[in-house]
Amino acid sequence: MLRSVAQLAFLLLVFLASASSLSSSSPSVTVTNYTQVADGPWSSREGLMGVEFKGALFISGGRQSHGVGFSDEVWRSDDGGGTWVKTSSGVIPSRAYHTHVVVDDCQIIMGGQTFFTFYNDVWRSCDDKGEVWERITEHAEWPVRSGHAALVTSSGSVIIAGGCYNKNGNPAARSFRGDVWKSEDGGKTYTLQASEDDSGWKARSGPRLVETSEGRLLIVAGEVGFTDDTQLVDIWGSDDEGVTWELVSEQPGFSPRSGHGVVKAANGDLLVIAGWPHLHDLWASGDGGESFEKVGNDVWNCECGGDDNCKECGKFDFWPIVTEEGKLVTVGGSGAYSTFGKLWQDTWVAEIEL
Ligand SMILES: *[C@@H]1O[C@H](CO)[C@@H](O)[C@H](O)[C@H]1NC(C)=O
Repeated sequence: MLRSVAQLAFLLLVFLASASSLSSSSPSVTVTNYTQVADGPWSSREGLMGVEFKGALFISGGRQSHGVGFSDEVWRSDDGGGTWVKTSSGVIPSRAYHTHVVVDDCQIIMGGQTFFTFYNDVWRSCDDKGEVWERITEHAEWPVRSGHAALVTSSGSVIIAGGCYNKNGNPAARSFRGDVWKSEDGGKTYTLQASEDDSGWKARSGPRLVETSEGRLLIVAGEVGFTDDTQLVDIWGSDDEGVTWELVSEQPGFSPRSGHGVVKAANGDLLVIAGWPHLHDLWASGDGGESFEKVGNDVWNCECGGDDNCKECGKFDFWPIVTEEGKLVTVGGSGAYSTFGKLWQDTWVAEIEL
């Protein structure tokens, strides 16, 4: 009798242990109710960036005019994406594939490119309306780049990593960056955290940075060219704000991609959203990015008869924002392999279910 009670207790413990490890590693997040809430008034564009700042949504820049033009605009939405007003134009030089984050109660915009010019400047706006922008750094310590990743850590540091540039100013000679930089003064000055040789991951453009609930930085996927076979899928992690990196996953589950969205839900689950070529899938990780499960293939209500590469409604180089309210907002994006193809001017809102 005693022995079987002990056995039962042991089995129960084993069951509870495996159930709890299961619940801590499986993502619980799903995204539902994709609703298009606006079409414009900003022009269709890819490589735009966006943030939530003081309860409003802001977008900046982007590549527009069928891919031949670059925007110098900032727009604000006070109603979660339904309506937009232009708050600045002609102040920040035109650009796309820059980065845009919120730090120290201000928005900052870093780097980016037009066809011929790659930037390493930093612009800042601290008013609620996003109307006043000043350049706080003309040439940052990091060399010019576009398609880099950026985030603000939970301790308030700005981190940027990777990107690309035109070697010797030649648009046909694109080169990639694998270095990591940190600012502790709101984006004004930067120190090198890891050089390209030290970071360990392959230099790349279009990766995304995200911070896990454990405070680990992850750099997720990207590309080393602009074709199918130059897309990357590996994930690297840093526990010291970008100084040292280790491989977290070589094959996290989703396909190699760039121009994707990577966000963290309020419960700490990570989401990878669509990307290059014309994807509309959604992947979630509950184990800090080691593995991902496919939790949807209907982002933007795009189902495409099961075709994963959907030219009609799949997107890359859109921008995702998770709002304080727990909604997923996406803006713009591209639906064309090549320059001069379909660009989007839409705003979508969906519910993140935890
Ligand atoms: C779906 O989203 C739309 C727009 O955000 C909202 O008006 C509507 O109430 C939502 N429906 C449900 C069932 O949550």
